[in-house]
Amino acid sequence: MEKKNEKNETSDFDELTKKIEEEILKGEREVYTEKTLEEAYNPKNVGELETPSGTARVTGPCGDTLQIHIKIEENEIVDCKFMTDGCGASMACGSVVTELVKGKTIEQALTVGYKDVISVLGGLPEENIHCSVLAVDTLRAALEDYKSKGR
Ligand code: FES
Repeated sequence: MEKKNEKNETSDFDELTKKIEEEILKGEREVYTEKTLEEAYNPKNVGELETPSGTARVTGPCGDTLQIHIKIEENEIVDCKFMTDGCGASMACGSVVTELVKGKTIEQALTVGYKDVISVLGGLPEENIHCSVLAVDTLRAALEDYKSKGR
């Protein structure tokens, strides 16, 4: 009998958790594009490189930090990873910016701007534009770090 109650409480709790998650997602869908949510929940290139050619860690005006590691071989970005303690939008922007520059030369990567990131995401709310700027600023700082090493 006791076990049954425990089970019912667990399933009630699961049900409630599911409802809350659905509500949150519904609210997010009203603010963010499908692509932004996809990149925020399933970001690509998360992590660090063991032997990066260039690294940068930048803190944005919101106080959140984004880190980028790049691996460059013969002037081509062959790998790129990021990490952030920021919002979901910064996760999406980090994912997109690292995807955008893979396979590009340093010169091509330097032309990637925050508007390119926003364009891939299909738009960002005004209050999250700085998240895309943070991702691009960090990328540029990582490229500068690489260049400053005289390679
Ligand atoms: Fe700080 Fe998005 S990076 S709010």
